[in-house]
Amino acid sequence: MTTSAPGKVMLYGEHAVVYGYPCIVTAISERLFVSEGTAVGDTRFIDAAVAAWGKPGQKFSARSSFSGKYGFGSSSAVTVATLKALRPHATNRELFDMAYKIVLDIQKVGSGFDVAAAVYGGTLYYIKNKTIEPLVIKDMPLVVGYTGIKADTVSLINNVAQKKKENPEKVERIFEAIAKLVDEAKTKMIEGDWERVGKLMDFNQEYLRDLGVSSEKLESLISAAKSAGAYGAKLSGAGGGDCMIALHPNGVQGKPLVEKAIKEAGGEVINVTTNAEGVRVES
Ligand code: PMV
Repeated sequence: MTTSAPGKVMLYGEHAVVYGYPCIVTAISERLFVSEGTAVGDTRFIDAAVAAWGKPGQKFSARSSFSGKYGFGSSSAVTVATLKALRPHATNRELFDMAYKIVLDIQKVGSGFDVAAAVYGGTLYYIKNKTIEPLVIKDMPLVVGYTGIKADTVSLINNVAQKKKENPEKVERIFEAIAKLVDEAKTKMIEGDWERVGKLMDFNQEYLRDLGVSSEKLESLISAAKSAGAYGAKLSGAGGGDCMIALHPNGVQGKPLVEKAIKEAGGEVINVTTNAEGVRVES
């Protein structure tokens, strides 16, 4: 049996989501596939899934349509796809609960938004330990650009925790402002008001900059996208590198111009579509 789970792109609310505030995540067309067979490389997540739901000696191998360096959530996707292979009839809730437990045991930190995207797919409004709400949205005019720099999520989460310790009121205020814009983004995405959705990305980016998780390379890709006419742009995920996202305007020139600008600024454009299907049995 082969199973697969999608990767994800964080649209709004990263970091704040770790502290109980909402975020919006979309599952992407890049997928991670798991089949029976001997694994190579980092097998911690597969091993933990087998220890939870499998029989001793069961082996699985993973392959993905995307590179692990992009930060598309391969650890969560491999965990979810392996659990699905072990129990194809488990409910999404059962898959989510077990996969999130495994990811937390191994990584120690994380909101579980990437696990939710891998299990449920689509586009989700997510609050840790509380809400997984699918959003019905139209095709998002999203462009994804990779900085070429692999970010370390755990140390960025720790940096924000340190900042919060030093200046709790300020960081709490930033999180509250992010939560407010996430709620507005949810409404505007459902309406398909991409101009406003883009503006809200800009606001989110300002707060992420204040949290200290942006980088020079991210900023240069973001400003290049905006100069080329993007409705808005921001980093996506933990920051420090990894990917940025931008919303391109309609019209034949909208997308190519934004993509060209990101490339000229030294970024790699990654072609993905959003709102992809969650975990599934392939064959
Ligand atoms: O680096 P990524 O794409 O896994 O995103 C991390 C997002 C954080 O909010 C910083 C952490 C989390 O688990 O929610």
